[in-house]
Amino acid sequence: MNEEHFKKIISHAKEFGFIFPSSEIYDGLGATYDYGQNGVELKNNIKKYWWRSMVQMNENIVGIDSAIFMHPNTWKASGHIDAFNDPLIDNKDSKKRYRADILIEDHIQKIENKINKELIKGKKRFGEDFNEAEFKATNPNIIRRNKEIKKIEEEMELAFKNDDLNAIYQLIINLGITCPLSGSKNWTDVRQFNLMFKTELGSVSGESSSIFLRPETAQGIFVNYLNVQKTGRKKIPFGIAQIGKAFRNEIIARQFIFRMREFEQMEMQFFITPGTQEKWYEFWKKERMKWHKALGIPQELLRFHDHIKLAHYADAASDIEFKFPFGFKELEGIHSRTDFDLKQHEDLSKKKLRYFDPEKNESYIPYVIETSIGLDRMFLALLAYSLKEEELEDGSSRTVLSLPYSLAPNKASILPLVKKDGLAEKAKTIFNSLKTQYNCIYDEKDSIGKRYRRNDALGTPFCITIDYDTLKDLAVTVRERDTMSQERIKIDDLNNFIDSKVNMNLLF
Ligand code: GAP
Repeated sequence: MNEEHFKKIISHAKEFGFIFPSSEIYDGLGATYDYGQNGVELKNNIKKYWWRSMVQMNENIVGIDSAIFMHPNTWKASGHIDAFNDPLIDNKDSKKRYRADILIEDHIQKIENKINKELIKGKKRFGEDFNEAEFKATNPNIIRRNKEIKKIEEEMELAFKNDDLNAIYQLIINLGITCPLSGSKNWTDVRQFNLMFKTELGSVSGESSSIFLRPETAQGIFVNYLNVQKTGRKKIPFGIAQIGKAFRNEIIARQFIFRMREFEQMEMQFFITPGTQEKWYEFWKKERMKWHKALGIPQELLRFHDHIKLAHYADAASDIEFKFPFGFKELEGIHSRTDFDLKQHEDLSKKKLRYFDPEKNESYIPYVIETSIGLDRMFLALLAYSLKEEELEDGSSRTVLSLPYSLAPNKASILPLVKKDGLAEKAKTIFNSLKTQYNCIYDEKDSIGKRYRRNDALGTPFCITIDYDTLKDLAVTVRERDTMSQERIKIDDLNNFIDSKVNMNLLF
């Protein structure tokens, strides 16, 4: 994957009604996008896959839908007002602003890339006899580079632990990190910056008070945890899930829908007995990786990245990273959040947020393991992984979006060979009989070949052609997107056939 592929994804997303720049007739609004007619279907299917695997399939996890506006004290308690600041640094030449920790982590990534190149060289040289572990332990270049990484990580960890912004600045200078845009080392000091959007909540008397657009959906879960626990008679361990919009005034909002100012999260907070957090942290790391891999995303495009710089609320954190066209980047976070949030809310609200554990016969504030995935990033990962240009046997090529069948915006496209002689009417009857089960397309324009290509580009798993024989044998030609193979299927069997291939249950 590369820059060229990334450009293709963006133009494909627009051309085929997946994503449009927001308010495009006014030349768009920075880092804001709208989902089009096919985008919204794909997005809804991703949500459905997440919700079903989280809520429907776990008897101890339930969902909620809390308001975007929350009492301002929520953000005081959560630390978003005082502590949730990102360390930012500006390049004086390009005038671009960066997250200091990300600049350092990108630098480490470059050293890791050099190690990987060394490994590839070793594999080529030794062929079948190559022993990776031994090579890593003895190759002087790899040993030196690993030591270099360790030293940077230690210095970075210490600087963040001590909140020492000057030490972070020095590390960037000492490592000779340059601005990706201008290539210069002309940096400002590192400063803290708050990412929350502020707005006013008007009151009757004309007074107003400042409130914030939520920067994460998680707090809506924390403030409702006892409501859910009591009304749902939940016993620990149990989870609460939520899908919803979040807002952050990101400084470097770019890379299409990867980093936006308005985005959607799918978050789950899992409430556990204090002391069991390590076990559940590992459990959810494994579960979440399994969820991604069930979609057919190959292992080499996914990896864990354990955090060095921990957020103020976490005692352990790991990202599931996906290999986007611009490199491995965070797709989902799994965080061991301790009892930080509930304790803070208890302190500030003066309301007891303790759980009475009938087995232990005592009350305590539960610990929390969080899984938090960006819906838009998942969407981008799927587009990046699925969009392919394929060479065909006859020398031509096709663009295909090989989305998992159950996530595809439409499951079947109904195509009368010609409009006349009763074929269009027959095709409409078939469309009407399938539309209650699946999103289908009815398409009678252009040659069958062109219609196939259009549906490949949309990711439609099945094209169903109604021809003259259909009127006699009551069967249709079904063409499968991935194999392009065609088979004749009785109209009466169509529903079962499609269901056996696109049902989301096949993912679980
Ligand atoms: N409640 C924890 C939390 O919000 P986070 O790592 O800041 O943690 C979780 O965000 C996920 O939300 C990320 O892994 C990412 O997928 C998504 N995300 C965060 N900021 C985003 C942005 N500006 N645009 C799109 N997605 C974003």
